[in-house]
Amino acid sequence: MLSMQSSLPVSIEMSKIKLFQSDRVWATIKEEVFDLVDQAHQRGESQNGELTKQLESELCRRFNRGYCITTACATDALDIALQSLQLPIHSNVIVPNYTFTATAHAVARAGHQVAAVDVGNNYCINIDKIRNASAIVSVDLFGNMCNYSMLYKTQLPIVVDAAQSLESIDHDNIASPSHGVLSCVSFSPSKTISSWGSGGAILTDDAVLAERCRNLRLHGKQTNKNIAIAAGLNSMMSSFECAAVLVGLRYSKQWQQRRKEIANYLISATDLIPSVDHIPQHTLSKLVFQSTDRNQVVQKLNCLDIETAVHYNLLINDETIYSSSGDLSNSNRLKSISFTVPNQHSLSDNEVETIAKGLK
Ligand SMILES: Cc1ncc(COP(=O)(O)O)c(C=O)c1O
Repeated sequence: MLSMQSSLPVSIEMSKIKLFQSDRVWATIKEEVFDLVDQAHQRGESQNGELTKQLESELCRRFNRGYCITTACATDALDIALQSLQLPIHSNVIVPNYTFTATAHAVARAGHQVAAVDVGNNYCINIDKIRNASAIVSVDLFGNMCNYSMLYKTQLPIVVDAAQSLESIDHDNIASPSHGVLSCVSFSPSKTISSWGSGGAILTDDAVLAERCRNLRLHGKQTNKNIAIAAGLNSMMSSFECAAVLVGLRYSKQWQQRRKEIANYLISATDLIPSVDHIPQHTLSKLVFQSTDRNQVVQKLNCLDIETAVHYNLLINDETIYSSSGDLSNSNRLKSISFTVPNQHSLSDNEVETIAKGLK
């Protein structure tokens, strides 16, 4: 049995078990969010105000970083982070073949060649397959983490795509967004901490890169009086989005613990292989299982009114705008057997029992 009792009114529990219960999460945090937003709006701050500063310093504090620059989304954050490295145009930038398309799009948007490399069994980049590159975008997918001590041995600049790994900590006691010369996080609605809109951030300890990123995110200049360093973006979070993230961060530990409890329970209830790395703290951004009979398992879950998804049906080598070469067999094997089940902290114990039944 689950130790932490969590129940809901019967009417809610009888509906489909969705992958995301954002409605329930909103009910928990809305008073605190409205309070912060109201104060900001009364100061006349719709963006780039006190809440942006608070969020940036909170992220620096949490991840022990010198600088943080918030952006409109993690895709922009990755694009800006890569541009800040000032690599020669069309440089080869490594991405794992198994990732959300946004990782590759950011590389292309920054003016570089996407070089997709196969992943290991934890869906993170296979370091042995890295060749001929100017930089690496490492993705800590589903909350699993790359082997950073090995990645650093490549001596290449590493930009961490920590969109799915905000709460993950590895065996060296280093959080995912604390790794890399630059790291990027996401606050989109499918993430553990959502802005109820969009949002992202770049973290770094390098003052020069930080200043470039800050310029690149807003027309390439610090103020309208400055000359642009490049054709920058207009990429910011609103005060509302900052407030939602700031409040979400207050709950992040509690929510991560509940996701851990749910994941442990579901993993112990099934013989299916989970995608979860054994690390000191795991984001459990998505709870992915593997089955060679995926269709059958998914059908059973769907019959119990449990929503499922395949993250991801299309890998980077399936995108025709990117040309991929090399052995990508492990990522393609994982793609054919992986599926995601609901694991948000807002699930009730009864709902978790139903998912466990479906996975048996
Ligand atoms: C691994 C990964 N990278 C990048 C992104 C892009 O994040 P955003 O939606 O904030 O642009 C996502 C979003 O789903 C993601 O999962």
